[in-house]
Amino acid sequence: MQYEATGITVSYGPRRVLDQVDFTARAGEVTAIVGPNGSGKTTLLRAMSGETPHQGQVRINGADADAMTARQRALHRAVLPQSGSIAFPFNVLELVRLGLTAGLSSDDPGEADRITLAAIARVGLEGYETRMVQELSGGERQRAQMARVLVQIWQPVLDGQPRWLMLDEPVSALDIRHQLTIMHLAQDYARAGGGVIAVMHDLNLTAMFADQVNLLYDGRLRRSGRPADVLNDQDLSACYNCPVRVNTPPPDGSPWVLPQSMV
Ligand SMILES: Nc1ncnc2c1ncn2[C@@H]1O[C@H](COP(=O)(O)OP(=O)(O)O)[C@@H](O)[C@H]1O
Ligand SMILES: [Mg+2]
Repeated sequence: MQYEATGITVSYGPRRVLDQVDFTARAGEVTAIVGPNGSGKTTLLRAMSGETPHQGQVRINGADADAMTARQRALHRAVLPQSGSIAFPFNVLELVRLGLTAGLSSDDPGEADRITLAAIARVGLEGYETRMVQELSGGERQRAQMARVLVQIWQPVLDGQPRWLMLDEPVSALDIRHQLTIMHLAQDYARAGGGVIAVMHDLNLTAMFADQVNLLYDGRLRRSGRPADVLNDQDLSACYNCPVRVNTPPPDGSPWVLPQSMV
């Protein structure tokens, strides 16, 4: 089962910001989208999730996503936006409960509460249930939003179909411990049969957690494949316009990336 986009083209007025992008993510895997600021990562995620008008086709588990209703899409995929603010005075419990959709069994009235509390614990916010979201730190708020997204598609597989977490820089505001919490959560979701598509800023976390990496540059996919193939000196230095050295130390051989001083 796949999340598949073909020929995705998006323009804002006369400016084309995505040009014929083909993208595939497989269930069971974490698929990362990386690239410099303004390369089109958020636009690609929003086009694929159905939030931005686009040319080209998007198929979720083989079905035409553009022909789905908003409710059908909400059962298939959940989207964590890039650090948005929250306009209403919710506490953490209320915010996370907003994510609940259909798919809960009607003969178990306690299920909604159980899922909500479990998701809050999963992102490391146990004990924060009655705190107002506006009064949280940026990182705490980002994790509360992650819990909201998680409860929307709590089961990674529903009726034999994988569901899809679509995350736009999910760890951008987090300290190193909570970066790992959220990346492990994403990886576990994939290992349980769901799919994860994540826009990533941190190339080292990408190397550690992604099964596949897509490198965007100026609205086009420059390279797609395994982290060890995509995260290389030449492609990263060219796309990020900055000298980069990728190293592969033992024992696990996963690449790590260091920008070189430009002076
Ligand atoms: N709503 C919009 N209207 C006009 N231009 C936009 C809009 N959203 C994004 N852009 C432009 O499209 C390009 C890609 O943006 P984005 O997808 O957000 O990049 P990334 O997430 O890779 O940093 C950028 O040059 C940005 O300025
Ligand atoms: Mg972005």
